[in-house]
Amino acid sequence: MRLVFLGPPGAGKGTQVKILSRILGLPSMSTGDVFRAEVASGSELGRLVQSYMERGELVPDDVVIKIVEKWLRERDVKSGFILDGYPRNVRQAKELDELLKSFGVELTAAIYIDVPEDEIVRRLSGRLTCKKCGAVYHIEFNPPKEDLKCDLCGNELYQREDDREDVVRRRFRVYMESTRPVLDYYRRARKLLIVNGLGSIEEVNERILNKLRDVKSSEGL
Ligand code: AP5
Repeated sequence: MRLVFLGPPGAGKGTQVKILSRILGLPSMSTGDVFRAEVASGSELGRLVQSYMERGELVPDDVVIKIVEKWLRERDVKSGFILDGYPRNVRQAKELDELLKSFGVELTAAIYIDVPEDEIVRRLSGRLTCKKCGAVYHIEFNPPKEDLKCDLCGNELYQREDDREDVVRRRFRVYMESTRPVLDYYRRARKLLIVNGLGSIEEVNERILNKLRDVKSSEGL
């Protein structure tokens, strides 16, 4: 299956993609995680993207598209993959379609996790992220076993710079302006699956798996 995950900041895309990637045995990539790793390493790319991320703006398309293209070229696209946080606008969605076409395949589905704005604020204000492996926790809804320590790799957890209230508001505006139109793009292509993102992480995961089972049986996969 070739899947992309869409949704407002904090909808739970990263949480669900990491779980699904394990369950389905598919490689996954989060463009946000890639950029955060570049910022942490102090690379040239990291310095370039940092200013956009700190303001809650999208990183320029040409930069993002190149990264996604390189990642896909290094994988067996026919066997499947999951993208988290890409595409973020219609141009990125079209570029992905073109690229997949050049590999002789197409996207299986775009999964939209639907969460209202007030819940997003609750989720982002309590989010903790691992500095090393990018695992995501929540102080209330999904706490680590040990205070501020990653269950998976034991490294320190931190609060993301762009989870400050003013930046969250900006990210939400950017999402409404640039990313919402991507839903129509996939709806027209009959690839959009809408999943209710309210409820526990396990409940949301089960809903996604149910939708994917439907796709599998209707496409004979
Ligand atoms: P990115 O890292 O992709 O940020 P985002 O899309 O804003 O999404 P988040 O990572 O904030 O949230 P999420 O939906 O993954 O939620 P999570 O699972 O963490 O991008 C960051 C920046 O990079 C962008 O602003 C932009 O600058 C740049 N960028 C990235 N991609 C780009 C692109 N394609 N083009 C241009 N620029 C790009 O969950 C949130 C919290 O909720 C966690 O604490 C989690 O534990 C909790 N939670 C999850 N599910 C549940 C649940 N069911 N119930 C209760 N709590 C839950």
